[in-house]
Amino acid sequence: MSVDPNRPSAARIYDYFLGGTHNFAIDREVAERAYALVPDLPQVARDNRAFLRRVVRLAASRGVRQFIDIGSGIPTEGNVHDAARAADPDARVVYVDVDPTAVIHSREILGDDPRTAVLQADLHQADRVLSDASVRALVDFDQPVCLLLVAMLHFIPESPDLHEALRRYRDAAAQGSLLAITHGTAGSRAEQLEDLANLYVRTGTPLVLRDRAAILALFDGWELLDPGLVQLPLWRPDPGDPPVEDPDAYAALAAVGVLT
Ligand SMILES: C[S@@+](CC[C@H](N)C(=O)[O-])C[C@H]1O[C@@H](n2cnc3c(N)ncnc32)[C@H](O)[C@@H]1O
Repeated sequence: MSVDPNRPSAARIYDYFLGGTHNFAIDREVAERAYALVPDLPQVARDNRAFLRRVVRLAASRGVRQFIDIGSGIPTEGNVHDAARAADPDARVVYVDVDPTAVIHSREILGDDPRTAVLQADLHQADRVLSDASVRALVDFDQPVCLLLVAMLHFIPESPDLHEALRRYRDAAAQGSLLAITHGTAGSRAEQLEDLANLYVRTGTPLVLRDRAAILALFDGWELLDPGLVQLPLWRPDPGDPPVEDPDAYAALAAVGVLT
């Protein structure tokens, strides 16, 4: 597992937006340029983390106690296992990320916690993820699972392989399972977001800003829970959450699907 400090990484840039310290000068440079283009990016990152916690609570309220978080990133405050355990102390969480920095720091934080596992894998490697011994030790696929693909599918270009991988995760999941996705979208800011996408080319994981129809297609076979696919902070906000001032300009959509 090797970390290249000279190449910016999406995981470390995101860490910087969240106020984390697991990033290098090259990540900070790209993050600052991204911020200059889209000043609300750190807020969108925080909104993503808040969404994650709302989804985990929802899953727990439906009796779902096992979570597979793919593209889990560098652990920052309010991780999935913290939120899940607050709801159910026996919750099990598998973190999967392709980025070695994310995997190293996740392992550091989780240590030998027997109810969590960290796997370095690409989302496309569905068979590997689903059959991995550490995953099988924690996840009972006869029981519903919550699959979290939060702020990560916009790093994955459209391809038959992507849809095949999503189908495999869906086919492995029991009835009652949940799929939560948040995804960058251009909304009414196409030009600004295109400049941002160009900037991320340097990371090796270019941004793919899908439109509504393309994001909905990622939920093939899942039934969307209310309120459907909406701007991220509008997905079942907590009481007291601030309103979204200009929803059309908000750069990320979110939805949760259930297997019926
Ligand atoms: C913006 S971070 C999101 C982190 C976390 N899900 C959250 O919302 O706080 C995106 C993460 O997706 C990971 N990623 C990108 N492409 C991936 C792939 N093909 N397979 C697995 N992880 C991937 C990146 O390494 C990065 O850690």
